[in-house]
Amino acid sequence: MKVIKALVTGLVLAAFTAPAALAAGGAKPLHDGKTEVPDWPFEGPFGKFDKASVQRGFQVYTEVCASCHSMKLMSFRNLGENGGPFDSDDDELTEALVKEFAAQYEIDEVDDIGDVVSRPRRASDPFPSPYPNDAAAAAGNGGAIPPDLSVMAKARHGGATYIYRLMTGYPDDTEIIDDTIHFNDDHTHGELHQPSGLYYNPYFAGDVTANWHGDPRHKPYGGFIAMAPQLADGRVSYMDGTEATNEQMSADVAQFIAWASEPKMENRKSLGFAVMIYLFFLALLVYFSYKAIWRNVDH
Ligand code: HEC
Repeated sequence: MKVIKALVTGLVLAAFTAPAALAAGGAKPLHDGKTEVPDWPFEGPFGKFDKASVQRGFQVYTEVCASCHSMKLMSFRNLGENGGPFDSDDDELTEALVKEFAAQYEIDEVDDIGDVVSRPRRASDPFPSPYPNDAAAAAGNGGAIPPDLSVMAKARHGGATYIYRLMTGYPDDTEIIDDTIHFNDDHTHGELHQPSGLYYNPYFAGDVTANWHGDPRHKPYGGFIAMAPQLADGRVSYMDGTEATNEQMSADVAQFIAWASEPKMENRKSLGFAVMIYLFFLALLVYFSYKAIWRNVDH
């Protein structure tokens, strides 16, 4: 009886709260069954990063994102670790590449007599940050602080897929006339006015009600983000000749951030597999020992 009562209460509650949740809006689901998201090679128990993609994503990060976003948890030496952009079979080569890359950036240090001097960064130094502090970051971005990207793939639901959707989700330039986006599909008809300095993105959590002129029951998903679209086709020239479409750059930078968020993933997975094999043989051994020990005992 108690179970039935609990069930009924649950159903009644769900019936009342579901429409409220819908009305409050929210970000567009990452998987809609219509448009494709990349098939990430690093997912699953044997997943590995696609190194070429991580390398391209690193290029996108340094050439585009690094002008606003820090990656404070990354040191240059991490770039040579397993699955990283400078990882290779030749340890000396990896070390030389990391060293040369780090030396392009400078860091300030206080010397013996108290003067501030700059020196080239070393492999053990952290990545440079674009802004000295949060106040400067906010001042440079209309009041919004570009979040640190070191562990962004862990910090947001959906990880790399979210980053991919966010970067590819902005409406096309041609759909925006005088800061107004015109919606006209099967479901959503109306106009959405973009506040100045903010950009509509269906995957960014928020609420567009106040700026929506159309049927309130069919308002668009998402919200307004303070980051302008960053990855127009051809934004970078890939060193490996891959065509730099918006989707390609977004997938690559998402994979790079996924690697940076868990640089030891490949080690963890191969260790996990070794442990499974070990446990399997241990279980066999225990089973046959048990059989052998009790063989002559009646039971
Ligand atoms: C011109 C500065 C600028 C550049 C360049 C830039 N961003 Fe941003 N980004 C921002 C700002 C500002 C925010 C915070 C937006 C907000 O909270 O409304 C942001 C937020 C984000 C977020 C977090 C969104 C969330 O869910 O909170 C991600 C992820 C992101 N950027 C990824 C990138 C990537 C990847 C690149 C490079 C391809 C990049 N950004 C380049 C300014 C920038």
